[in-house]
Amino acid sequence: MKLNIALLAGDGIGPEVIDQAVKVCDAIAKKYDHNISWKPALTGAAAIDAVGEPYPDETHEICANADAVLFGAIGHPRFDNDPSAKVRPEQGLLKMRQKLGLFANVRPTFTFPSLIDKSPLKRDRIEGTDLIILRELTGGIYFGERGRKDDGNTAFDTMTYQRFEIERLAKKGFEFAMKRSKKLCCVDKANVLESSRLWRETVQAMEKQYPEVEVSYEFIDAVAMRLIQWPKGYDVIITANLFGDILTDEASVIAGSMGLMPSSSVGSKVSLYEPIHGSYPQAAGKDIANPLATVLSAAMLFEDMNMTNEAEEIRRVVNKSLAEGYVTEDLAEGGKSYKTSEVGDWLASNI
Ligand code: IPM
Ligand code: MN
Repeated sequence: MKLNIALLAGDGIGPEVIDQAVKVCDAIAKKYDHNISWKPALTGAAAIDAVGEPYPDETHEICANADAVLFGAIGHPRFDNDPSAKVRPEQGLLKMRQKLGLFANVRPTFTFPSLIDKSPLKRDRIEGTDLIILRELTGGIYFGERGRKDDGNTAFDTMTYQRFEIERLAKKGFEFAMKRSKKLCCVDKANVLESSRLWRETVQAMEKQYPEVEVSYEFIDAVAMRLIQWPKGYDVIITANLFGDILTDEASVIAGSMGLMPSSSVGSKVSLYEPIHGSYPQAAGKDIANPLATVLSAAMLFEDMNMTNEAEEIRRVVNKSLAEGYVTEDLAEGGKSYKTSEVGDWLASNI
């Protein structure tokens, strides 16, 4: 099969982890006789430096015309402590999500047998965890009205949701639940927020279309606690943009490292695949970042293209590297570790 994949390396460790995913995908293409044509494009701080804009039109064209987008990370510390910065790398990511219509962010959380004891959480609590957090990605407080008033002394961000935005995300949630253990949890703050009450009302109204799915409604603060106390209590979680951002970082602790968790962002047309971690600027250029989250994001890409064997092959080789200790320093616990590029070469040569 011929695949056109837009390649957005982005900032910080983005280019390094993306390089490894490319090696792995190229090895898969060779083994399974596919033809991948990579279309590199600029985004984030790298794009600001080059053209003054974090998601340039040319990049959008490349993404919109691709079969899928593989994305590294975005963000640069020189913008973080500069409240006056007019353009920020993160705006590129938000614009990309919005312009590509990527309204659902699929973030699975699972454990790796060889890493269970690397998690700070107890083995019996986390072993066998297998859940999906579906985060709404193009609405809510990330995209609501924001600004300053009172000569800059008051700042506001608004959380707005429209019924159709909740419906389309919830529909994906119900569909995932039907394919899995038929449990859906709507996570909100309906005891305080009006937008959360609309979430509940909307999801409740959809329940009768999916009589087999057992739906629960829980508050975000309680879920923040239960998620690490008893993650096996969850199967599919649907939640608003900001809540999902926070919960998915938290959930990565279950797997043992932020460097392991992949994601896909889906909408009406092209989908995007990216690790859930950020640009980790302290590690940029050092060849030490864990590439596995990006490699596993590529597995999600193949899965969504109905190339199940290819996806399985990637997961198999990742598990093998973990079991054999061919890992980057974040997973080595002071033992022998390998460079980002060495892990990528090893994975590709074991395919
Ligand atoms: C993520 C990131 C982004 C977000 C940032 C970089 C804007 O944290 O993908 O989770 O908050 O969505
Ligand atoms: Mn985040």
